[in-house]
Amino acid sequence: MGEIWSELRAHNRAKSGRNILDLFDKKGRVATFSAEADGLYFDFSKTQLDDGALSLLLELARNKGVEERRQAMFAGDKINETEGRAVLHTALRASEGPITVDGEDVMPEVLDTRARCLAFAEAVRSGSFKGQGGRFTDVVNIGIGGSDLGPAMATLALAPYHDGPRLHYVSNVDGADINDALQGLDPETTLVIVASKTFTTIETMTNAKTARDWLAKTVSDPSAQFVALSSSTQKAGDFGIPEERVFGFEDWVGGRYSLWGPIGLGLTIAIGKDAFTGFLNGAATMDRHFQEADLADNLPVLLALVGMWHNQVQGHATRAVLPYDNRLSRLPAYLQQLEMESNGKSVAMDGSALDLHSGPIVWGEPGTNGQHAFYQLIHQGTRVVPCEFLVAAKGHEPELAHHHRLLVANCLAQSEALMRGRSLDEAREMMARKGLEGAELERQAAHRVFAGNRPSTTLLYDQLTPFTLGQIIALYEHRVFVEGVILGINSFDQWGVELGKELAMALEPVLTGESDSAGKDGSTLALVEKVKAAGGV
Ligand code: F6P
Repeated sequence: MGEIWSELRAHNRAKSGRNILDLFDKKGRVATFSAEADGLYFDFSKTQLDDGALSLLLELARNKGVEERRQAMFAGDKINETEGRAVLHTALRASEGPITVDGEDVMPEVLDTRARCLAFAEAVRSGSFKGQGGRFTDVVNIGIGGSDLGPAMATLALAPYHDGPRLHYVSNVDGADINDALQGLDPETTLVIVASKTFTTIETMTNAKTARDWLAKTVSDPSAQFVALSSSTQKAGDFGIPEERVFGFEDWVGGRYSLWGPIGLGLTIAIGKDAFTGFLNGAATMDRHFQEADLADNLPVLLALVGMWHNQVQGHATRAVLPYDNRLSRLPAYLQQLEMESNGKSVAMDGSALDLHSGPIVWGEPGTNGQHAFYQLIHQGTRVVPCEFLVAAKGHEPELAHHHRLLVANCLAQSEALMRGRSLDEAREMMARKGLEGAELERQAAHRVFAGNRPSTTLLYDQLTPFTLGQIIALYEHRVFVEGVILGINSFDQWGVELGKELAMALEPVLTGESDSAGKDGSTLALVEKVKAAGGV
């Protein structure tokens, strides 16, 4: 544990009795503890951070080499050291190069693939590329993890821009998922996208085969209605998808960072070329801000530092992401993969054990729904949950402006309530006004106390346009990167998902009886037997 961490912890301990509200006594609190970049406004004034803590955190970022690693990432250096790969999802939204990997400019290929994807999406939308029954009415994207969460989240987020065929996302190996998605679709006008970087993921390949069988019942040449988004043209070819309908990307694009390239094809078909380009431009604008802004004004850096203050210094293990924007309802799930697959590590880049916590547990739901579910615990539970609110100044439904007013009022009220709380005296006064007295007044008042002093941040934007969504997603990507650099881990591998996959492959033949259960533990064995006894496999 470094010296700055110790100083930060000591600082936190020294100030532990202080209330966030008191920090507002100092003039300029909001201006100092907020930052703005190209229309995104980040307010982190409702936290325990003060000048001393913030300057220590900024020093930490500098000492840990955030600026140098940032430059190395954008330059195409192989910063994914355990896999020997560059990390260049930023190239997928760049408009020009050169950006070099192993001395070769990757941009001509990136721009060529982007042009192919945009042209293909337009062909599907216009009907110039069609199915056996004519223009495609429906598109089914089959993928999982990064090949699903990003495009599914963004397709929902950008619903007001959706003027192409209907999009359906299938990810789970549970047959219920594909079964329900295909219900009511016409195979003759359905396009199937198989999105898999590796083209080996068992869930995706199982679903892809099921979709092919479904098409084959009606369509004479099912493969003519298939597209592959993959790094493996070979494997897509083996599946029967011809090269002209394989849209590839290189190994320097991690699955959870791949939405900006071919993996965004379904989204492009839904919203069209201009809107998708706006989405890329929003992300590229955030890339520029991240590269150029001073650390103290740098949104991704500030989000990371606030997050690390809460997780590493104050010891709050979770982070709630609370979008007051119903179309961002898949954002928490998307961020779970981005943050927890990237920074859920306990080993440092050099193989030594991490002496800090791994990244936080990320969860959330859109407001106002969450208010009527889990906010009880956030307000009155014994554990502190730092909250990240997101809200647009404007909705997309001007005729429903009163809904939006209520939405915004609720969002701002929640962060205010978390900070302000309600004291026992205030609760007593409330109960007295209701006519209670004596022991009953005391009892009822105790239940109405809110400790307050609970931290939250708010990200405010004008409207959820493609450009803004691009900015927000790139902001979170870079935030995860900064956190990873400060932790000293590799944010770009995911070895932690392997063991479960291996054991699942070994268990399937045990379930079918093709393999014996030698070496299995008692619990797993009993569960296998129960499933078999129920005739489940
Ligand atoms: O579960 C791990 C993972 O490799 C993710 O990182 C990835 O996004 C997902 O599986 C899907 O992988 P693929 O795109 O290769 O099918």
